[in-house]
Amino acid sequence: MEVKTFSPPERILLGPGPSNVHPRVLQAMAQPTIGHLDPAFIGLMEEIKFLLRYTFKTENEITFPVSGPGSVGMETCLVNLVEPGMKVAVCVNGVFGGRIRDIVERCGAQPIVIDAEWGRAINPQRLDDVLISNPDIKLTAFIHAETSTGAQSNIKELTEISHRHSCLVIADTVTSLGGIPVMVDEWNLDAVYSGSQKCLSCPPGLSPVTFNERALHAIKNRKTKVQSWFMDINLITSYWGSGSRRSYHHTAPINALYGLYEALLLLKEEGLENSWERHKKNSEKLIDGLKNLGLSTFVKEEERLPELITIKIPDGVDDLKVRNYLLDKHNIEIGAGLGSLAGKIWRIGLMGYSSNEENISRYLNGMKEAFKIM
Ligand SMILES: Cc1ncc(COP(=O)(O)O)c(C=O)c1O
Repeated sequence: MEVKTFSPPERILLGPGPSNVHPRVLQAMAQPTIGHLDPAFIGLMEEIKFLLRYTFKTENEITFPVSGPGSVGMETCLVNLVEPGMKVAVCVNGVFGGRIRDIVERCGAQPIVIDAEWGRAINPQRLDDVLISNPDIKLTAFIHAETSTGAQSNIKELTEISHRHSCLVIADTVTSLGGIPVMVDEWNLDAVYSGSQKCLSCPPGLSPVTFNERALHAIKNRKTKVQSWFMDINLITSYWGSGSRRSYHHTAPINALYGLYEALLLLKEEGLENSWERHKKNSEKLIDGLKNLGLSTFVKEEERLPELITIKIPDGVDDLKVRNYLLDKHNIEIGAGLGSLAGKIWRIGLMGYSSNEENISRYLNGMKEAFKIM
């Protein structure tokens, strides 16, 4: 086998993630590696925390990127707040809610599922009903932007209901952060995680998290040790916490963090609100174009995410053939449906650096061609 340096093809990433990475982010990641306790690096960590607070709209002191993809952010929030024997309300309207349910079980707790049809938002009334009949539930977890279906749930309302029943909340904002409003303080979200590879225009591998005082109080007062050493917030904050004294926890992914810093800086330069507006406008353009092609969206307008649009595959159209055509002829990646939606929907991500007009017209032209020859 002949091995040589890998040169990836140039792709337009319009799937459910990763999205295209801004060239300034790639450049930043190619800078020389320095030590993870170097004073210059500790200065950069403080700036990353500042920029993450801006992005999450929070003043939470404990706001930092976990070293690992969104799934590690998900586990970090869960393993710190879930104790064996607890009952946890888990909202499931797609793949990622299902994953939370699985992790809750692995933590030795009992998930009480509030489900919704795939493609629909979680019904807040159903959460209220479950919390009324289960007063011993003290934690609720939900997905803001369900990437497997393209549906958006009203996490402000789900949080208000949970707090009324004295429950803390964990919110997944992997596909929402930077693309639609995520107002951590205004909505009183207790523990929140996200991912670097979607609307933040950064490669995968980092998971921004933020914890408020209520969540930290619950973690400090656990009866049992956090199940994971690596993800124990009490230990990670010796490295990511405040103050000038930092101690070794794990070797941080230095160059990945250079990239995240640059991506967050780009977002700050654009302005968070302008980024939300760009995602919305581009989504409307794409949907207009899809209508002209005779295609319709899977999620109804009020619950539809602007950054991840799901399209019904017309009867008789071969899902894989279309996706392969787009990739081979136009270098465009789009996403397939997952689970029971496989072969029924396409998932189009217009996230971060990928969300621009040129990508939309390239994609629509590619689809027009694909339909003509198939
Ligand atoms: C809503 C949601 N949560 C969690 C994850 C897991 O993130 P990762 O694949 O970075 O581990 C994803 C990934 O697509 C996601 O879309």
